[in-house]
Amino acid sequence: MSAERLPWIAEDPASQRLLELAQKVATAATTLLISGESGTGKDHLARLVHELGPRRDAPFLKIDCASLPPNLVESELFGHELGAFTGAVERKLGRLELGGSGTIVLDEVAALTPGAQGKLLRVLQERTFERLGGTEALRIEARVVALTNVDLNAAVASGHFREDLYFRLNVLALTVPPLRERRADILPLADHLLAALRAIHGHPGSHLSEPARRMLATYAWPGNVRELRNALERAIVFSRGDTLDPTDFPDNIRAAASGAAGSIAGLRSLEEVEREVIAATLEATHYKISRAAEALGISRKTLLEKRKKYGLK
Ligand SMILES: Nc1ncnc2c1ncn2[C@@H]1O[C@H](COP(=O)(O)OP(=O)(O)O)[C@@H](O)[C@H]1O
Ligand SMILES: [Mg+2]
Repeated sequence: MSAERLPWIAEDPASQRLLELAQKVATAATTLLISGESGTGKDHLARLVHELGPRRDAPFLKIDCASLPPNLVESELFGHELGAFTGAVERKLGRLELGGSGTIVLDEVAALTPGAQGKLLRVLQERTFERLGGTEALRIEARVVALTNVDLNAAVASGHFREDLYFRLNVLALTVPPLRERRADILPLADHLLAALRAIHGHPGSHLSEPARRMLATYAWPGNVRELRNALERAIVFSRGDTLDPTDFPDNIRAAASGAAGSIAGLRSLEEVEREVIAATLEATHYKISRAAEALGISRKTLLEKRKKYGLK
């Protein structure tokens, strides 16, 4: 699969920097740690790193450490021999073996049990492992990419995650910023996701009205790109006709955008206030950048960056 078929929407400077880093780490064989809030695109980025690197034609396998029972995580990872435990009625190959020289993604790595953490550390250090119940030493060729939405540093401090494993995983690390910290991505992402959803739902004409675009651009998106995708999907289903209006979106998104553009009970983030002040100043100065910058007490360059970040005209 080529990178063209896996679009990474990166309009915001923050995402462009991330894309550059992804290109750099793609060619390395070192273990990679990707952190970020839920829904920011960690899986998506892991896939991109795989596609951009020399492993693109080898397998890309994922293990969800949080949703599998602990004993299954180990057997999925390492495989097992016949009779390794009750129910092991035949030899089974684990992902480390099946992954060949590809990429193995450990989703929610913080959910690994202490036992599995110890085994994983050994694999990463010695590049060898055994199937559960087995003695044959097998070599791992695949690259391990660990994903986490919890702060591993804090998990180490509270004794839930092995420090040595954390250091081993953290050699190369990427952080996907929350969507609210890369606002210039919101509308391009919305357009991109909408195009994909249009095809799925057979609504070829669906497009966002101007008020809907403004609403999406101001909302805080605590659920990040996943929330945006779900909101658009819902809007396509609820819309009558081809135009997606604010009324087609969930109440919480509408409420946040109408007037008190903020989150809970009138509380507003500094970013929301900043966006509003900049928008008002630009309007008041008839969009003369130098004058607006002077009034705001910031440089022209900073103003231009912020204008782009907040998707202002
Ligand atoms: N930069 C991006 N460009 C296009 N689609 C994206 C991007 N980031 C995330 N997505 C989409 O958003 C959704 C959530 O991303 P995902 O990688 O599953 O998040 P996470 O693993 O951090 O919870 C997926 O449908 C994914 O394809
Ligand atoms: Mg995920």
